[in-house]
Amino acid sequence: MTLKAPGSEPKNIIIIGGGVIGCSTAYFLTRHEYYNPKIHSIVILEASKIAGGSSGKAGGLLAEWATPKCLAPLSFKTHAALAKKHGGDEIWGHRSVYCADVELQAQDVRNVGPADSAKNDVIAQSVEVPSELDWLLPGSVKSYKEAGNPSNTAQVNPYMFTKTLAELAEDKGAKIIIGSATAVDYAEDNQSIVSVQYSQNGAIKSLAATDIVLSAGPWTSKIFSRVHLKAPRGHSVVIKPSRNLSPYVLFPTIATPPNGSLENILSPEIYPRPGDRLHDFDSVYACGPDDYEVPLPDTSESVAVDDQSCNDVWTAVKSISQVIHDGEVITKQACYRPQIRPHEEDEEVGPMVGPTGIKGLWLATGHDEWGIQNAPGTGLVMSEMIFEGAAHSANCDSLDPKHFLKGD
Ligand SMILES: Cc1cc2nc3c(=O)[nH]c(=O)nc-3n(C[C@H](O)[C@H](O)[C@H](O)COP(=O)(O)OP(=O)(O)OC[C@H]3O[C@@H](n4cnc5c(N)ncnc54)[C@H](O)[C@@H]3O)c2cc1C
Ligand SMILES: *[C@@H]1O[C@H](CO)[C@@H](O)[C@H](O)[C@H]1NC(C)=O
Ligand SMILES: *[C@@H]1O[C@H](CO)[C@@H](O)[C@H](O)[C@H]1NC(C)=O
Repeated sequence: MTLKAPGSEPKNIIIIGGGVIGCSTAYFLTRHEYYNPKIHSIVILEASKIAGGSSGKAGGLLAEWATPKCLAPLSFKTHAALAKKHGGDEIWGHRSVYCADVELQAQDVRNVGPADSAKNDVIAQSVEVPSELDWLLPGSVKSYKEAGNPSNTAQVNPYMFTKTLAELAEDKGAKIIIGSATAVDYAEDNQSIVSVQYSQNGAIKSLAATDIVLSAGPWTSKIFSRVHLKAPRGHSVVIKPSRNLSPYVLFPTIATPPNGSLENILSPEIYPRPGDRLHDFDSVYACGPDDYEVPLPDTSESVAVDDQSCNDVWTAVKSISQVIHDGEVITKQACYRPQIRPHEEDEEVGPMVGPTGIKGLWLATGHDEWGIQNAPGTGLVMSEMIFEGAAHSANCDSLDPKHFLKGD
C-alpha cells in the first residue's frame, strides 16, 4: 500500500462568513504549502458584504497580551508579518501604539478655549502623563496607567484589513460568492459533510463541499444550532479631528463635572488612527458600552443604529479633548460581536476553533472583543487543521469546539 502525498486529496472548501475570521482563514488556506488551485477550491460564502459586520466596525486594537494565551502572541506576531509582507502600514493602517487605562474628568469644552486650556493644568501636573499624549484637555487626567506599549500593542483599521485579506485570497484563486447559507448537509452513514445550501436572490442553491468552515460571527448559531452565542451590540463613531492625535489608545472612565453641566456621561474607548487606503487623513474611532436592547437582526445590513447612542459617545469624547471637540463626526455605526461567555462577569472563554465531530465541518467563531487581533492565528491554525488534520503553530486544545457545543 502506498501512502498518498500530503495535500493530494481534492478538496472543496467553503467558508461561511466573510468577516475577519473567514477572510483570514481563506488567506491562510491559499498560502498553505499543500494548497494547489488545480485540485482545491476555496469559496467564501458571504450573506451581505465582506467586513459588513463587526469586522468592519471594530476598534482594531492588537495586543500580544490579549486572550486566549494560546492564540494571542501568535496572532500579534502574524499581524506584524502580514503588514510587512503586504504593505499593511499604508493599506490598513497597521502601527504600534501605546495603550492606557485613564481616569478623566469631563469638562464643558464650550467654556475652555485653547488659550485657557494651555495654562489651566492643575490636575494634570499631579499625574504622570507621557508628554506626547498632548490631546487631552489639561486638568482632565486624574490617573494614568499604561496597559500596553509599542513593543506589545498595535492597531489596524479592521475594515481595510479584512477586505485586503479577502482580495489577497482571491489573488491566489479563492472565490467570493454573495449568498446566505441556510443549511449544511452531511451524510448520515459516514457523518461527513457533503454540501451547503444557500439562498441567493430568492433562489435556493447548493454547493458540494468536503470541508465547511463556520465563521459567520454572531450569526453562526442560526446555521448550526449546537453553537450558542450571545450577541452584544456596540455603537461607535469615527471622527475627523482638528489636528492629528498621537498614537495612544485609551480606555477611560470619564467622570461627570461636579457642577452637573454634563449628565450621565459615557466612558467610550478611544482609538486615534493613522491615514490608510480608506481615509487619507488621521481619524479617531470611539465606541461606547455594549447593549442587548435590540436582538441580532437577520443580516449585517439590517443592524439598527441608534443615533442617540452615537451622539452620547460623541458628547463624551469631546468633553475630554479640544482637538476631538473641534473635529467632525464622519461615521455613526453599530455592530454585534460573537460572545461565548454566558454572563458578563464570567471569565473570558473561547473562541471555538476546530472540528465539530462531523467530518469536514469546522468552527471558528466566538472571538468576542479580540476577533481582529486573533484573526491571523485563527486563520493559520484552521488552514493547518484542514490541510494537515491538526494545528501545529499553536496548541488549540482549550479552544476545541467540544468544550462549547451544546446538544441539538
Ligand atoms: C464596538 C466593537 C469594538 C471592537 N474592538 C475590537 C478591537 O479593538 N480589537 C479586536 O481584536 N476586536 C474588536 N472587536 C471584536 C471584533 O470586531 C470581532 O470579534 C470580530 O469582528 C468577529 O469577526 P467574525 O468574522 O467572527 O464575525 P463578523 O465580522 O460578524 O463576520 C461574520 C460574517 O458572516 C456573515 N454571515 C452571517 N450569516 C451568514 C450566512 N447565513 N451565510 C453567509 N454569511 C453569513 C455576515 O454577513 C458577516 O459578514 C470589537 C467589536 C465591537 C462590536
Ligand atoms: C462646570 O465645570 C466644568 C469643569 O469642571 C467647567 O468647564 C464648566 O464651565 C462648569 N460649568 C458651569 C455651568 O459652571
Ligand atoms: C460520505 O458519504 C457520502 C454519500 O453517502 C459521499 O458522497 C461522501 O463522499 C462520503 N464522504 C466521505 C469522507 O467518505
